[in-house]
Amino acid sequence: MLVLEKEDMKSLKGEKVKIFTGNANPQLARDIAAYLEVPLGKAMVGKFTNNEIAVKIEENVRGTDVFVIQPTCHPVNDHLMELLIMMDALSRSSANTITAVVPYYGYAKQEKKTSGREPITAKLVANLMTVASADRLIVVDLHAPAIQGFFDIPVDNLYSLPVMVNHFVKRGLTGSNLVVVSPDAGGVARARTFAEKLQASLAIIFKRRPRPDVSEVTEVVGDVSGKVAVIVDDMISTGGTLVNAANALLARGATKVWAAATHGILAGDAINIIGNSAIEEVVVTDTIPIPAFAREGKFVVLSVASLLGEAIRRNYFHMSVSKLFT
Ligand code: R5P
Repeated sequence: MLVLEKEDMKSLKGEKVKIFTGNANPQLARDIAAYLEVPLGKAMVGKFTNNEIAVKIEENVRGTDVFVIQPTCHPVNDHLMELLIMMDALSRSSANTITAVVPYYGYAKQEKKTSGREPITAKLVANLMTVASADRLIVVDLHAPAIQGFFDIPVDNLYSLPVMVNHFVKRGLTGSNLVVVSPDAGGVARARTFAEKLQASLAIIFKRRPRPDVSEVTEVVGDVSGKVAVIVDDMISTGGTLVNAANALLARGATKVWAAATHGILAGDAINIIGNSAIEEVVVTDTIPIPAFAREGKFVVLSVASLLGEAIRRNYFHMSVSKLFT
């Protein structure tokens, strides 16, 4: 929970601001609207018989600052198109500004060419969003922070880290008996900050991907023997990275393994694979809806609704959002 100072408490009630959502994560949108004490805007977002996305904004938005909440999670293409078409409709309805609030940015892993004749789909998505009239983007834990530079509009890349750290502190998982582990070289900066906040040591796993969606641990750097390990990642897709990392840590003497990842994509059989693993608990956020049966198992879901709500409120009032990064 964010701790706010009195002068920060300006309310959005009665302001010229509206919040809309597509079908990607209506519960998160409702939670953000509840945090901000504003009703969700009325819109029909469905499909024509021919499967094309159908959108109708059902209230006046002329001159209004509009925020559209829509993670581009599974089914990614439908949710992306819903967002683009909603922004097009809002722009043609004379909204004053349009902010795309995309808690999970799909296609972020395709942010560079790793071999010849590949696309850079994360950049294509950025182009599509701006062509569809986005004036600003709010995201959480972009897979590659450099994706911010794919946009020529302001991007607020929020971190779930404070919400996550708070959870581990409450569980008493801090101190020198704890080691925070990055499951790949790309996640070292995130894991280092996590380790600092939990006063833990740091270890790094090196992995390789022999083919898409398959990962293998090649090396573990850092002392994990006799320690409780927390693997920190930005997303869990197939669960392969996480489970392989946990097995490698236990084989090197870690006593227990926890995990934290912002985006629970949980593709394919990930929930069962993780459920059957030796991992004690997996902490994710609600940037993407997490199925009820996962919540009954090893998954703990923390909400980023107040974090996103604050980012919306602060943007509307032209207040600094820096506070949200600490
Ligand atoms: C990779 O760079 C990411 O940070 C995650 O480690 C990866 O996307 C997880 O994918 P999976 O669960 O399919 O191994």
